[in-house]
Amino acid sequence: MPKRPSRSPGRTSPHALPVALGIIVAALAACSSGAPKKHAGTPDDPYVIGMSQSNLGEPWRVQMNADVRAAADAHPELRVLFKDAQNNSLTQRAQVEEFVEQGVDAIIISPKEAAPLTAPVAAAYQAGIPVVVLDREVQGDQYTTFIGADNVLIGREAGRWLARALGGKGRIVELKGLMTSTPGQDRDQGFREGIDLAANPGLDIVFEADMGWLEPNARREMESALATNDHIDAVYAHNDPGAHGAWLAAKAAGRDKEMLFVGIDGLPQEGQQYVAQGILNATFLYPTGGQDAIDIVLKILAGQEVPKRITLGTRIFTPDNVTGGGEEVR
Ligand code: FRU
Repeated sequence: MPKRPSRSPGRTSPHALPVALGIIVAALAACSSGAPKKHAGTPDDPYVIGMSQSNLGEPWRVQMNADVRAAADAHPELRVLFKDAQNNSLTQRAQVEEFVEQGVDAIIISPKEAAPLTAPVAAAYQAGIPVVVLDREVQGDQYTTFIGADNVLIGREAGRWLARALGGKGRIVELKGLMTSTPGQDRDQGFREGIDLAANPGLDIVFEADMGWLEPNARREMESALATNDHIDAVYAHNDPGAHGAWLAAKAAGRDKEMLFVGIDGLPQEGQQYVAQGILNATFLYPTGGQDAIDIVLKILAGQEVPKRITLGTRIFTPDNVTGGGEEVR
């Protein structure tokens, strides 16, 4: 037996306190910087991933969850708990907090809005839980990785395409996604860069409104646009449900042939169908990132370094190329 240093009873070694403090500090540091493993990551004791989806009312989000599920199903060492925030930021905030209390191994969140979800995401990250933010961003850098397409680029390409299609002249309606979410802000900014009103004085945005990503809102806003504008040359909607809502309003008014319709998302069962049916003139692919999120979570849980930001690509679908799978946009 190694000899223990003798100690007089009732006296603490002068080194014991700093050593103990050092251990506590090191443990706390490990907590906030790394990913404490709570489950073994085996089929018997799988890693638990909390997935908070902002809503499931739109086909694109249903597809995102299906992509996450399909990717996770290939890994018996993963279990995903899905929560639907039903388009309510407070509900989503509570869901993230519940995942932290539950001690999940990682969180995937597709946040409804940036500002209200920033603090709960940061708190989860600070508690040592890796957080993958998908599609819509939060503020700051208190998360592990952001995965999403470049919405400024998509908006800019939509603007350029429309400016060309209109020959630099026309009256445009812009139906915006929720402007408290980053894709709405970025798709607006990019579009304005793309149509370049300074270089194309013949173009004009004659009506703009926030339709909150929702088809019924877009339809209502388009009814107002039609009522206040004798002629409209094009509608740019920040997503395909918005573009379809606008088309429904124009069709009901007998004016759908008067204008072009451009959307974003390009799901095979939604936007691509609209293009094939002659409802939309163009849509841009907005990948869900579901598979990518699971791939990244697996890397994080394996202790690998991952990039802070992963940017997904896009494609354009038009009547000419939709059956051939569209065309890549860079
Ligand atoms: C679905 C959706 C998509 C859009 C994305 C932006 O909620 O509105 O249509 O591309 O969110 O975050």
